[in-house]
Amino acid sequence: MVDGFKVKGKTPLNGTIKVSGAKNAALPIIIATLVAKGEYILRNVPNLRDIRVLMKLLEDLGMETEKLDETTYRIVNNGFKRNEASYEIVKQMRASFLVMGPMIANLDEAVVSLPGGCAIGSRPVDLHLKGFELLGAEITRVHGYIHAKADKLKGAEIPLGFPSVGATQNIMMAAVKAPGKTVISNAAREPEIVDLGNFLNKMGAKITGLGTPNIEIEGVEELHAVEYSIMPDRIEAGTYVIASLITEGELKIENANLDDLGVFKTELEAMGVKFEKEGNILTVIGDLKKLKPAKIKTLPHPGFPTDMQPQMMLLQALVNGGSSMEETVFENRFMHVPEFNRMGTDIIIKHGIAMINGGLSLTGAEVMASDLRAGAALVLAGLVADGETIINRVYHIDRGYDKLEQKLNAVGADIQRIKLDI
Ligand code: EPZ
Repeated sequence: MVDGFKVKGKTPLNGTIKVSGAKNAALPIIIATLVAKGEYILRNVPNLRDIRVLMKLLEDLGMETEKLDETTYRIVNNGFKRNEASYEIVKQMRASFLVMGPMIANLDEAVVSLPGGCAIGSRPVDLHLKGFELLGAEITRVHGYIHAKADKLKGAEIPLGFPSVGATQNIMMAAVKAPGKTVISNAAREPEIVDLGNFLNKMGAKITGLGTPNIEIEGVEELHAVEYSIMPDRIEAGTYVIASLITEGELKIENANLDDLGVFKTELEAMGVKFEKEGNILTVIGDLKKLKPAKIKTLPHPGFPTDMQPQMMLLQALVNGGSSMEETVFENRFMHVPEFNRMGTDIIIKHGIAMINGGLSLTGAEVMASDLRAGAALVLAGLVADGETIINRVYHIDRGYDKLEQKLNAVGADIQRIKLDI
């Protein structure tokens, strides 16, 4: 038996919902505690399965971890006890491949399992490995593991073929102690890159250009442990913005910083949505029946975020008129389309672009979450569908949303966690 959700539809959402710490900033920052010895205190860490898996990996490598309260962790780095990250852990969470950077920054040899792909794409790590080689590591690939010999890293010019978030993070962590200057060009500009860079700089690293396509790193001898608070989760915030609009309620969202979502805000404003911010509280205003359709294309930050693609497509499907959604970051991120169509949307995919005939109403159905963001979008669809929606494989959602059903139920949703056959 596995967990599923039973969602009863047509429930407007009203009230205040709080955004947790960012999963995609917390994961690399937790891994960055491997860069230097000492005792770290990390605050605003979201309560997610992925975080728990990562803490086990750190303990595997020799670190001590302790959960001090709901959102605070203490991590003690007394040095690596092992230099190998096993397939057992890496297969559960691809982001654990990021341990390669801190390991080659500190050890002469590192062995990390190649991450598997996932539903949205093959997720290669060639750009990570090319960066490590340019820094002077010798990389070999055997039995599904990457072996790196790295006894003499030094600063280098590293042009990225694609502004990969993970490659930028992994290379940054590998380079912070490499003597000389490293320049990563065509670097990723996501806010989570900036959060990781700020964390490393607080530890004593010398990184400039964070948030721009050119990141410069001056190698330093030593770094030290610090206390740090993780940025709020911009994708969770964006998910609640969509939830407010489609349920025709008026949600107030705490800890939402829409500037972290690139063109997401301006695209919604072009559809007729208005935002009001009072201190740390964002109010979303928009009459679903009057919103205009939109032609959207996902791109690396500050373009439209791919992690908001399924949620945005649902809004487009409920807005009158013809909209389109083009996914350019991942090769297979439209698996929510047939699930949406089972609920009554009218979306066809032609030449990699989803053509959306919007304005139809949805009815509840049994559907399948294929990945984290598609799963969240299906929960939102259940909120506005007539009748009951059963969502399979909610473990995808538990990976990346901190208490999603509790937060939504507290503002008017009716979501029950149930047991389903596998
Ligand atoms: C991070 O994944 C996020 N995950 C993803 O969030 C997010 O969708 C993605 O960045 C893009 O913003 C975490 O931060 C843990 P990429 P990452 O490297 O680093 C190709 C979520 O829902 N590529 O920027 O893996 C790759 O195949 C998840 O929270 C290479 O070709 O993303 C993909 O098509 C989903 N070679 C594209 O780049 C490489 O060496 C973007 O990947 C690396 C990547």
